[in-house]
Amino acid sequence: MSPADRLLGRRHVLRLGVSGLGLAALGAAGCGSAPVRTARSTVGHVDFRHALHIPPLAEPTRVQGDDGARLTFDLAAQEGRAHIVDQGETLTWGINGDHLGPTLRARRGDTVIVRFTNGLSETTTLHWHGMHLPAEADGGPHQMVEPGESWEPSWRIAQPAATLWYHPHPHGETEAHVHRGIAGLFLLDDDEEEALDLPREYGVDDIPVIVQDRTFDAQGQLVETSHRNNGMLGETVLVNGTADPILEVSAERTRLRILNGSGARSYAFGFEDGRKFAMIASDGGLLPAPVRMERIMLTPGERAEILVDMEPAEEVVLRSFPQDLGLTRGMADSTGSGDELDIMLLRAAQTLRPASALPSILARLEALEETAASTVRGFELRTNRINGRSMDKGRIDEVVTAGTTEIWEVWNDHGQPHNVHIHDVQFQILSVGAEPPPPELAGWKDTVYLPPHERVRLIMRFSDYTSTEIPYMYHCHLLWHEDQGMMGQFVVVAPGEEDDVDVAPRLGDDGSAPREPGPHGH
Ligand code: C2O
Ligand code: CU
Repeated sequence: MSPADRLLGRRHVLRLGVSGLGLAALGAAGCGSAPVRTARSTVGHVDFRHALHIPPLAEPTRVQGDDGARLTFDLAAQEGRAHIVDQGETLTWGINGDHLGPTLRARRGDTVIVRFTNGLSETTTLHWHGMHLPAEADGGPHQMVEPGESWEPSWRIAQPAATLWYHPHPHGETEAHVHRGIAGLFLLDDDEEEALDLPREYGVDDIPVIVQDRTFDAQGQLVETSHRNNGMLGETVLVNGTADPILEVSAERTRLRILNGSGARSYAFGFEDGRKFAMIASDGGLLPAPVRMERIMLTPGERAEILVDMEPAEEVVLRSFPQDLGLTRGMADSTGSGDELDIMLLRAAQTLRPASALPSILARLEALEETAASTVRGFELRTNRINGRSMDKGRIDEVVTAGTTEIWEVWNDHGQPHNVHIHDVQFQILSVGAEPPPPELAGWKDTVYLPPHERVRLIMRFSDYTSTEIPYMYHCHLLWHEDQGMMGQFVVVAPGEEDDVDVAPRLGDDGSAPREPGPHGH
C-alpha cells in the first residue's frame, strides 16, 4: 500500500473545489494575449536550499487559576532586516523579531492578555483573525495603536482548538503592513483535540506553514507590485518567511497547519506526485472526520490542517496547482490562478517516528439549524463595495442581537474573485450556489471563497460580548479589496438595545430605497 492509501482505511468520495467548479487544471496555462499577465510555472525551477524557519512559540507569563491560566504575552512590532534572498538583506517588519511574529498558543478557558507595543513609524493594529472576543479587543480599525504607544486587549478563549492567525488591520493600509511582514499564527488547544492521536509536537511533526508571495528587487528589497484588479502578486513564494524552503521531516505522519497569508493570491495545495493527504481541520477547528484529498484550495486568510505521510528518505514537493476560481481567462491571468508553483520540499529522514492509526472521528460538530435563524441578511459584493457602500468607520451597517442565530447570504455580483470574512464568529456554510458545501467546507469557517455570480449562504450564532458603539468588521479578505473599502461594520447588542444604535439604512439598486435582503435576479 502506498502511504497515501494507508492514510485512511476507507474510501472517501473526493469533492474538490466549490460549486461544481472543481479544481481541475486550467489546461490553457501560458498562452494569454498581450497586456494580460500569463500563467507562470516554477515547477522544477525552485532551488530548495534553506531550512524552513519555524516561528518561535511566544512565551507568555503564566498564572495558573482554578478555571484556566492567565497568559500575558508581550508583543512588539518593530522594523528589521532579514536574510531571505541572495540579492541582499531585506528591510522587513516583524513582531519580537525581524520578520513575521512568534506563534501564540493558548487553551480553551485560558484568559489571554496581550501587551502590544507599536515600535513602527506608522500607526497600525493587531487583529486576531478567527477569534471570538469582545469588539474592543478585536484589533480592527477602531483599535489603532500610534507609533510608540501600547494597547492591552484581554479576553477569555471560548472556542474549539484551531489554527487562527493575527495581522494588522489599519483601514487602507492592511495589505502594505502584512506585506512588510507583520503576521503570525495563534494556535488554540482544547481537551477534545488533545484526546486524539494526532501529531502535535510543534516544529517537529506539527508544522506552521504560512504561505506568502513576494517580489524582490535586485537589492533584495520587497517590491510593491502593481495591484491590477485584485492586489499585489509576488513571484517568490515564502513559507514562514523562508524562500526556497526545505522541511526536514522526522515522522511518518506530519501535520501541516497551512495559512494562506497572501494578499491576493489563492493556492490549490497538493503534492507533486499526486499523493493524497488527510485534511483534519478548517479555519475554526477540527472537521467531523478526516477528509482524504489530493488538493485543497485556500483563498487569502483561509487555513487548513492536513496530515501527510512519508516513507523514510523520501522527498516530495508541496506544490500549488492552477485553480478554477470561476473567472474569465483575462481575470484568471491577473490573479495568478493559472500559475503552478513549487512551494516547499519535504525531505524525510532515514528513520521516522512511527505513526499510529488515524482517528476516524475527529470532532462532534453541532450543525446550526436553518430553522433556528431569526434573521436573514443579504450582502452583495461588487466593485469594492458591499451593498453599494464603501467602508466608513463612522457608519454602522448592521445591528445583530446577542443570543441569536442568523443567516448571511453573500453573493458576488460581478466577475472578480472575492471572499468573505466575518469577525467575532465562526460560521457554517449552508450552501455554495445550489449545492451543499463539499467536505472541506463543512466545518467551522471564518473565510470563504465567493465565485463570480455565485451565492454562498452562511449560518452563525452571536453569543455574547455586546456593545452599541464598537463594531466588528466583515469584508473581502483580498487585502487590497478590503483596503479599497470592500468592508462593512456590525455591532452585537444586548436584546432590547437594537434601537440605541444609529444604523445606516440599506441602499437600493438606485442608491436610495431600502433593499430587501436576498439577491436580485440577473
Ligand atoms: Cu484577517 Cu478583518 O481580517
Ligand atoms: Cu475581493
